[in-house]
Amino acid sequence: MTLEKHLETKADKALKAAAVFWFFVAVIGQWLFVYYIAVHYGGGIAQGDFEAWKNTSIKGHVDGDISGNFFFITHVLMAAIITFGGTLQLVPQIRERAINFHRWNGRLFILMAFVMSLGGLYLVWVRGAVLAVIGGVGTSLNAILIMIFAFMAVQKARKYDLSAHRRWALRTFLMVNGVWFFRVGFMAWILINQAPVGSTENPDGPFDIIWAFANFLLPLAVLEIYFYTQKDAGSVGKFVMAAGLFTLSLLMAVGIFGAYLMMWSPNF
Ligand code: HEM
Repeated sequence: MTLEKHLETKADKALKAAAVFWFFVAVIGQWLFVYYIAVHYGGGIAQGDFEAWKNTSIKGHVDGDISGNFFFITHVLMAAIITFGGTLQLVPQIRERAINFHRWNGRLFILMAFVMSLGGLYLVWVRGAVLAVIGGVGTSLNAILIMIFAFMAVQKARKYDLSAHRRWALRTFLMVNGVWFFRVGFMAWILINQAPVGSTENPDGPFDIIWAFANFLLPLAVLEIYFYTQKDAGSVGKFVMAAGLFTLSLLMAVGIFGAYLMMWSPNF
């Protein structure tokens, strides 16, 4: 084997290892989010006690608002299912050994992605569950991208164009997890700066405005660079991407740690 070929193999391996590491960290964080939703919202529904929701929601449960409460409760319950189900879609062993599960779980994921995006738009613009208009615009763009990408992922799967399906499905996965990235990124930012720099109570500070869009556009940009590197870059590019992805995963781990301590732990 020539030195060049040897380097290429090593670079491919490094990139794959960085992607697997990213996925492991993300799964831990997403399952902690699922755990929080199940205990906090599921527990509240089971006991008919909605008091604790006041700390974590903008409108949450409002006495007498039947349609608003219905939209909110279905939204949070689906959030747990879609987040958990999404992580299973990315496990290659499940795709290889249980393709029917992948198909049905995928259909459920796409259906919920549409229902949650439309329901989310209702919560923002009809129910008024929004703190700053710019945040509402950000989540609305997120909702539109979720639906476009989900549509593309289904189209490509139907045509058996599996490499395009993989790319659109990964884009959809990241868009659906915008809500999760929002929390994890915000917590990483606070922990690193030791203060919510650029964020206000409203929230309409410089960080709030940038993060309202970057929470889903930044992961999307990283994914596009990853796709490009995987296909077209040389060994050096792949090593740099692997190092970048590894660093971002560590940053994500910091954010997950912060989110668990400050938002998702049952003691919070
Ligand atoms: C599809 C992926 C989504 C997931 C997993 C998700 C998850 C959640 C969760 C867990 C909450 C409860 C807040 C908390 O306890 O942290 C929530 C609230 C909310 N979501 Fe989503 N969401 C998604 C998409 C969207 C979209 C696309 C929009 C807007 C277009 C949206 C709008 C809202 C609003 C306005 C609330 C706050 C309601 C309130 O506090 O009264 N969501 N979401």
